Amino acid sequence: MAIQKKTEPAAVPQHIGIIMDGNGRWAKKRGLPRTAGHTAGAANFRTITRYAASIGVKYLTLYAFSTENWSRPAEEVSALMKLFHQYLEEALRDFMDENIRVRFIGDISAFSPDLQALIRRVEEASASKTGMVLNLAMNYGGRAEITHAAQVLAQRVRDGALNPEDITEAMLSDALFTAGQPDPDLIIRPSGEKRLSNFLLWQSAYAEFVSFNILWPDFKPRHLDEAIEQFRNRDRRFGGV
Ligand code: IPE
Ligand code: IPE
Ligand code: MG
Repeated sequence: MAIQKKTEPAAVPQHIGIIMDGNGRWAKKRGLPRTAGHTAGAANFRTITRYAASIGVKYLTLYAFSTENWSRPAEEVSALMKLFHQYLEEALRDFMDENIRVRFIGDISAFSPDLQALIRRVEEASASKTGMVLNLAMNYGGRAEITHAAQVLAQRVRDGALNPEDITEAMLSDALFTAGQPDPDLIIRPSGEKRLSNFLLWQSAYAEFVSFNILWPDFKPRHLDEAIEQFRNRDRRFGGV
């Protein structure tokens, strides 16, 4: 199961994930509060999303807020929530002309009712778009996602609709937030950290990882090009030879 064929890398990976990290350090370097880094990072989100769509990326998954990020100081969390509001309002206005379909991955029920309503409006307003799918990972954690999928399958077993021994990898994949989407080919992490921090744990089994010593607000379209170039030079073997 899940055997992938070794193929020549496509010019542009189908699905790219980006861990938008380094906002706090970007601000600190400038003697600014961490929240100023988040503002700069949010502006960059727009630039990189548009650029990815323009070069033919089919799926872009951006890690915006993890299940662990709630542990940050209350004023930082609240500044992030304000930015989410602002950028989703803007997405409603701007992305609608751009043929980008916005989806959310993560447990949105933890957000304020206002923000949840806005999230639904963005999803609905872009549902018929046929261009790039933009997955925004908000209150997302790979472990929480897999735990939720286990609950869904356990419920089907309890209902008598499924035998435990018939559970397949495909069924588990289909119970994730990314159901129906291809796995990421490339995961990019700016900021210099070389870890996944709970991002797309199941889906990234064979993703190529590229890390940059650049903080997210400084991450430019040319860095995305550079990551894609590195990806093209990787030998993806998927466990084969
Ligand atoms: C990423 O930047 C944004 C979020 C996690 C919301 P950080 O805030 O983690 O920035 P650093 O890693 O502290 O520099
Ligand atoms: C990962 O970054 C989460 C997002 C970028 C949204 P963190 O800054 O939260 O991760 P750690 O703490 O460095 O692992
Ligand atoms: Mg960080």
